[in-house]
Amino acid sequence: MTEPAAAPVIAIDGPGGAGKGTVCRAVARQLGWHLLDSGALYRLVALDAERAGVALDDEAAVAERARRLDVVFQPDGDEGSVRLAGQDVSLAIRSEAAGQGASRVAALPAVRQALVGRQRDFCRPPGLVADGRDMGSVIFPAARLKVFLTASVEERALRRYKQLKEKGIDASLAILSEELGERDRRDTARAVAPLKAAPDARRLDTTDLSIDAAVAQVLRWAAAVYPGTQKK
Ligand code: C5P
Repeated sequence: MTEPAAAPVIAIDGPGGAGKGTVCRAVARQLGWHLLDSGALYRLVALDAERAGVALDDEAAVAERARRLDVVFQPDGDEGSVRLAGQDVSLAIRSEAAGQGASRVAALPAVRQALVGRQRDFCRPPGLVADGRDMGSVIFPAARLKVFLTASVEERALRRYKQLKEKGIDASLAILSEELGERDRRDTARAVAPLKAAPDARRLDTTDLSIDAAVAQVLRWAAAVYPGTQKK
C-alpha cells in the first residue's frame, strides 16, 4: 500500500488503559508531530448528544450532530485541552461514564462514518501520531508503522484508577476493572471497525513495561520505518 500523500503516520491502537494516550503524547512530542486522540472525539460525540438530550442509540441524530460537532483541541498544558461549543470539557470527557457513552456511540456505523474525514484531516506535515482502536485498520490503513498496544486487564484498570485519582475524579478499582472488561467486549464484538490488531501491526505488551520503555520502542520502530525521523 502506498503512503498517504499528506504526511507519515504512526497508528497506535489497543484497548482502553493500555497506555496509548501517554505513549502517543510522548512520541508526538519527541518527534514534533501532530497528535490525534480519536477516543476523545467519540467521548465528545457522546457528551454532546447527552447534553442535547439525544438518545445515544438514535443513530441518525447522533451522526448528524457528530458531523457538525464544534470542537477545538488546544495543545496547552501537559495533556492539552478540548472545547466543545466553546466550553472547556477536558475533564468532563475523561470520566468512565463518558468512556461508556463513547463506546456506545462508537458502535453506530453512521457515527463512525461521520468522523472519518475529521480524523484524516489531522494528517499534516511533519507527521501524525494517531491514537485509537481502528487507526491502522480503517482510518490510516496505509500507515507504515502500526502498533497494537496491550496490557492485562488488571494492569489497565490500575492505571485508569491512578489516572482518574490524579485528576481528582473518584473511582473504584473493582468497578473500573468490570467497566473496562465490558468496554473491551463491546469494542471487540461490534460489527464495524471492531477493536483488533491490523494484520501488519507490531504488538507491544506494556503489562511489565514502563512508559519510557514503550515510548523508546515506538521511536526505534519509527526511526527504522521512516528513515530521517529525528528525535527533537
Ligand atoms: O480511547 P478512549 O478510552 O478515549 O476511547 C473511548 C471509546 O471510544 C472506546 O471504548 C471505543 O469504544 C471508542 N473508540 C473507537 N474508535 C477509536 C477510538 C475510540 O471506537 N478510534
